[in-house]
Amino acid sequence: MATTACSQQQHQRCVSIDNINPAIKTMEYAVRGPLVARAAVIEKELEEGASKPFKEVIRANIGDCHAMGQPPITFIRQVLGLVSYPPLFDDPNIPADAKQRARGILAGCKGGSVGSYSDSAGIEVIRRHVAEYIQRRDGGIEADWQNVILSAGASGGIKVLMALLRCPIDGKKPGVLIPIPQYPLYSATIAEFDMEQIGYYLDESNKWGLDIGELERSLVEGRKVAAPRILVVINPGNPTGQVLSRDNIEQIIKFAHRERLVLFADEVYQDNVYESGSKFHSFKKVMMEMGEPYNKMELCSFMSCSKGYMGECGIRGGYAEIVNLCPDVRAMLLKCISAQLCPTTAGQAVLDCVVNPPQPGEPSYEQFTREKQNVLDSLRDRAELVANTFNSIEGFSCNPVQGAMYAFPQIRLPPKALEAAKKDGKPADTFYAFRLLEETGICIVPGSGFGQRPGTYHFRTTILPQTEKLKEMLGLFKTFHEKFLQKYK
Ligand SMILES: Cc1ncc(COP(=O)(O)O)c(C=O)c1O
Repeated sequence: MATTACSQQQHQRCVSIDNINPAIKTMEYAVRGPLVARAAVIEKELEEGASKPFKEVIRANIGDCHAMGQPPITFIRQVLGLVSYPPLFDDPNIPADAKQRARGILAGCKGGSVGSYSDSAGIEVIRRHVAEYIQRRDGGIEADWQNVILSAGASGGIKVLMALLRCPIDGKKPGVLIPIPQYPLYSATIAEFDMEQIGYYLDESNKWGLDIGELERSLVEGRKVAAPRILVVINPGNPTGQVLSRDNIEQIIKFAHRERLVLFADEVYQDNVYESGSKFHSFKKVMMEMGEPYNKMELCSFMSCSKGYMGECGIRGGYAEIVNLCPDVRAMLLKCISAQLCPTTAGQAVLDCVVNPPQPGEPSYEQFTREKQNVLDSLRDRAELVANTFNSIEGFSCNPVQGAMYAFPQIRLPPKALEAAKKDGKPADTFYAFRLLEETGICIVPGSGFGQRPGTYHFRTTILPQTEKLKEMLGLFKTFHEKFLQKYK
């Protein structure tokens, strides 16, 4: 198990690879896995002048918008600048509404500085703005600011709520139903927390829709080994890009109610809906509109500053809205997060801009709206370009990218390629992705990192490279695939 360097010093160290938490060894996170590590090495090799058939690595493996050239939204950065460096209040070039937002945030900070710890659930005025945002989004349905917990990205909120439910029930491990394919934060956290992953397959033949029969099947299977407690739904979907219909959401809510599951609605892509005819419906709104008994169900819904049009991944802002949680449980949750002190105040400030953006008549309104729309329009075009291009390649089939930031096409690989992968000791899709990286510099994530039906092969690419780069990437991809087919035919 231990590497040579580790075993040489074994006598001096108390901690070895054999006595750390085994759950950490089990967990995997494909979006930053071995393929990405290899991409980093290739980048270094290129920097040092190595000769390769390409000049750069194109990182299409991770939903990191700014890393792929998306410009920040000016208003957000002005507010962030002001709260971090108050002398900027004297700068006449910064508009009054940005200054007013920044003043409001600083007034909520202890000592008037973002350098102070905030309440563990976040700065109260920002929690109130989040509740007002949710209420506006959901057509006036009430949102209580005390049910809003600010977090380090959505990940922070998802992990703390999963931690709350990670105890055995009647001697069985707590089970979490997650979509397959899924976003690997879920499989990784389930492994880390020693919970039981219960996968339900999304229906590729129906634009990655969610079939209730399949949910029932997975629950029956899951109950044999675990006590299912949580149903995770990602809408719009990562890696699959689907946007659930209202009808489908109602069916899911009824199912969760019948089976006494806590709903985790991962809605971080709520601003990223592209296909005409598709619309984002929040689980909270649908649940409340369905009335009794559904409007009493426990729901945790997650949102992030990392996605949408802002793409501020590195600043780490997000929130969880917890609905209908028993007050005693909510108190325990607050106790639990208090041990982590607080999410970053920079993340909270960015979230404030997202939920309290410039309004018509304010000086920043026009520029803000233009910048936001440019990003979303361009993502819409790129979503269409990617799906259409993949569908034009022999052996590829790709569902429309209705929302989010990814395409997840299926590839049919010839038997000889499957044999070569086996010889190489890799799953076939991983083998394919490594070949693609070595020959073109394009870094994608093999479908096995997200889960897929046995015997099928997929990969995930983001739609985030800027348009010209994306066109270049798709061209390289097509040529690579043709050569790959030639080689293994
Ligand atoms: C579906 C989904 N949920 C949650 C996250 C976590 O994002 P963050 O922690 O940056 O908000 C991501 C990131 O890609 C995601 O795709």
